[in-house]
Amino acid sequence: MNHFRYVGDDLWCEDVPLSRIAGEVGTPTYVYSSATLTRHYQVFDAALAGLDHLICYSVKANSNLAVLKLLFDLGAGADVVSGGELFRALRAGVDPSKVVFSGVGKTEPEIRMALDAGIRAFNVESRDELHAIARVAAAAGARAPVALRVNPDVDAETHPYISTGLQKNKFGIPMPRARDVYREARDLPSIDIVGIDCHIGSQLTKTSPFADAIARLRELVVALRDDGIAIRSVDIGGGLGIPYREETDLPSPADYGAAVAGALAPLADLGLTVLCEPGRVIAGNAGVLLTRVLYHKSTDVKNFVIVDAAFNDLLRPAFYDAYHAIKPVRRRGDADTWVADVVGPICETGDFLARDRSLPRTHNGDLLAVMSAGAYGFVMASNYNSRPRAAEVLVRGDRFAVVRARETLEQLVAGETIPDW
Ligand code: LLP
Repeated sequence: MNHFRYVGDDLWCEDVPLSRIAGEVGTPTYVYSSATLTRHYQVFDAALAGLDHLICYSVKANSNLAVLKLLFDLGAGADVVSGGELFRALRAGVDPSKVVFSGVGKTEPEIRMALDAGIRAFNVESRDELHAIARVAAAAGARAPVALRVNPDVDAETHPYISTGLQKNKFGIPMPRARDVYREARDLPSIDIVGIDCHIGSQLTKTSPFADAIARLRELVVALRDDGIAIRSVDIGGGLGIPYREETDLPSPADYGAAVAGALAPLADLGLTVLCEPGRVIAGNAGVLLTRVLYHKSTDVKNFVIVDAAFNDLLRPAFYDAYHAIKPVRRRGDADTWVADVVGPICETGDFLARDRSLPRTHNGDLLAVMSAGAYGFVMASNYNSRPRAAEVLVRGDRFAVVRARETLEQLVAGETIPDW
């Protein structure tokens, strides 16, 4: 459920017509709904109500400070994967004791920064990294809280680029080696083992891979007790998929919660805290990308709608062949439908937002909304073709705020110098 809907023939976000935002802020612009972000967070939280749990929102999905602040005010912690994300989370007021730090390549400065901040746990992805964390912590006279991210070798059945839980993926410590690495961690004085972690992929459309992964983690938790290692928290990662095409057969957060609770039930008497790292399910359908139609053209085999947003603004269609619904911001009663590619101005054939899409015919100057763009939208934007990055707007009721100004041409070249040799 989200708060983008037609009022008459105009598409609104909450109580604001999107055409008003485009008029005042220009295009391309990302628009996020506070009400949808709040609702998604609360529904997800309620789905885990039976468990002692902490939601560490995955900052990579949408890291705008205003979005982070909204979620942190609701009680969320953060899953970060870089010093930059940690910086953002802290800037937005996260409680550091609710932050987990994942990622296969944490650098020593990043580790130091996270230790100084007092995060809840490092999700350690290799033996080498464990030792780097131990070194940095020892030098600081501190003990680093760690969970080992284990790779359960479970097929998430999603796009190969966003599947992370297989042996052939770079993520986590392979299950057969995890016990040995835990024993090593136990014997490092600057390491405090607090938990176990996994993340098997993103945009999962079934609950069974989650349950399978947890079942494998469970065996390890039990084995570790024999080694004198008492795991206190289980981080089950993120990954729950969302409808991009109004699919009705996807697992709901409640289905997900039930699957997680079921899989963890055999460990109920251990008093574990369950951590999860949802990103897309919170932010995905809480945002759209507003774009304006510049031109139309047709060849003998194709129709093109040329818009002012491109793959530097929203990479998902080009990169994953992802589907995003595209809706007119003003519906025309008399518009017939045609099949067209919706393309941006970037000089690559791969620059499309939709291909062979059945759409109502548009006119030059019309506004379109690219739906479900709240997660992995702006965060993956680039300046390719020297295009300034889009503005971001947050709506709340009948008000909206520009929460990131459109980049200027001066900002495009800020930091560049021409040497005077
Ligand atoms: N935790 C970890 C360690 C992750 O790597 C990810 C996502 C998440 C949590 C959040 O997963 P989510 O709940 O959002 O599925 N750019 C891609 C998605 C990449 C996901 C990477 N990791 C896309 O646009 O589909």
